[in-house]
Amino acid sequence: MARKSCNVPSLSLTFSIISLLLHSTPFAVGHDYHDALRKSILFFEGQRSGKLPPDQRVRWRRDSALHDGATAGVDLTGGYYDAGDNIKFGFPMAFTATLLSWSIIDFGRNMGSELGNALRAVKWATDYLLKATAVDGVVFVQVGDPYSDHNCWERPEDMDTLRTAYKIDRDRPGSDVAGETAAALAAASIVFRSRDPAYSSLLLDRAVKVFEFADNHRGAYSSSLHSAVCPFYCDVNGYQDELLWGAAWLHKATRRREYREYIVRNEVVLRAGDTINEFGWDNKHAGINILISKEVLMGKADDLKSFQINADGFICSLLPGISHPQVQYSPGGLIFKAGGSNMQHVTSLSFLLLAYSNYLSHANHAVPCGETSASPALLKRLAKHQVDYILGDNPLKMSYMVGYGDRYPRRIHHRASSLPSVVAHPAHIGCKAGSRYYLSPNPNPNLLVGAVVGGPNSTDAFPDSRPFFQESEPTTYINAPLVGLLAYFSAHP
Ligand SMILES: *[C@@H]1O[C@H](CO)[C@@H](O)[C@H](O)[C@H]1NC(C)=O
Repeated sequence: MARKSCNVPSLSLTFSIISLLLHSTPFAVGHDYHDALRKSILFFEGQRSGKLPPDQRVRWRRDSALHDGATAGVDLTGGYYDAGDNIKFGFPMAFTATLLSWSIIDFGRNMGSELGNALRAVKWATDYLLKATAVDGVVFVQVGDPYSDHNCWERPEDMDTLRTAYKIDRDRPGSDVAGETAAALAAASIVFRSRDPAYSSLLLDRAVKVFEFADNHRGAYSSSLHSAVCPFYCDVNGYQDELLWGAAWLHKATRRREYREYIVRNEVVLRAGDTINEFGWDNKHAGINILISKEVLMGKADDLKSFQINADGFICSLLPGISHPQVQYSPGGLIFKAGGSNMQHVTSLSFLLLAYSNYLSHANHAVPCGETSASPALLKRLAKHQVDYILGDNPLKMSYMVGYGDRYPRRIHHRASSLPSVVAHPAHIGCKAGSRYYLSPNPNPNLLVGAVVGGPNSTDAFPDSRPFFQESEPTTYINAPLVGLLAYFSAHP
């Protein structure tokens, strides 16, 4: 897993990024965005838990964790391992499903032949989320004891660690994870609305119920579950944002008045304006403002105008040299935030830039930033610049996506990828027997194609070493927004 901390680096703004934005990039090799898109989606198959289907393309993976939920008397098989370990963390899994869905809602028409695979990637998550929310007033939010799991370097197929199932309920609430789960189910219901109407309404009905539970029984899951979820996916910034986020997706999915009124009524109480240049599994504020702004820009929601003002302010804070305080950039031009797994910030912030740019274009609008203004085209260039950095236009001239280009990370912090596959080595490899593979300087035997790792540090350096998990670990929520970005740029290179 990829946790985060709160120390802030002091980077000086480099002016090369400004010129990169104003002119076309000097690297400009031209990327195969469709190939990268295909790989970014394929990655999710490598993260699958449970019984694998006959059309599984990542063949070095096998069935795993087939008894998940048994200790609690329920079926919780399926879903995704979050990163390089074998835990199913519900909070980031739900966020991943929300962002994969948003990628398809906004950019599915650009996916061409990959649309089917993208839909399957969403469904693998939502099938699991439906199991996790099958009982009213209960959400199973995690399977796997993180201490037991992190103590071992084991293939998912071999796991003999504790598969404890953790839940929230009315007595031990978790509005954060329940709110995000409701958002994921609602967003996916839009994805499947015309493609599988029965599945779509199942998702939407469940989203409504889970949101009700999240709102009526308020609390942070970190306070209910303590060390089972912290310091792993601890909700640092509170559950208020997930309530607004859940309501925003339910509003988009149902068009019911009650959600619109909920948003207007709770905007201040739930601190919609708290945008701190961040968008990820913990902090949804920027996403809420961008999502709701679409309707304002379409002229359908003057009562929600303040969300657009927040969204504008957030966007300005991403533009180098335009406003203060602003997000920081590495000397090579990559968005950089401290705390590890930086690429999660790069892909999610770039996704918001691109999504907002499209909403602005349709409304023939630009973002006012102090004395100047930012055009939709400028936002797109910045997002594209970040994507191109990931694919190889960077000081090390390497791609941070496994299997894309000639040079890419070979020693990713990922148990299944770094241990020999079940095909190559059918015998069980025990908890500590895996350590020698973890410590080996050799490249991983199994290519987790499409995995995007945490990425370089603040000076664009990358160790390509398993123990450096902040740089070398892939996660599902790094890839989810990247799927949308790559779809768009594959159609508009
Ligand atoms: C970045 O990584 C390089 C190489 O591993 C190292 O020399 C440098 O000190 C690191 N920089 C920071 C700011 O951590």
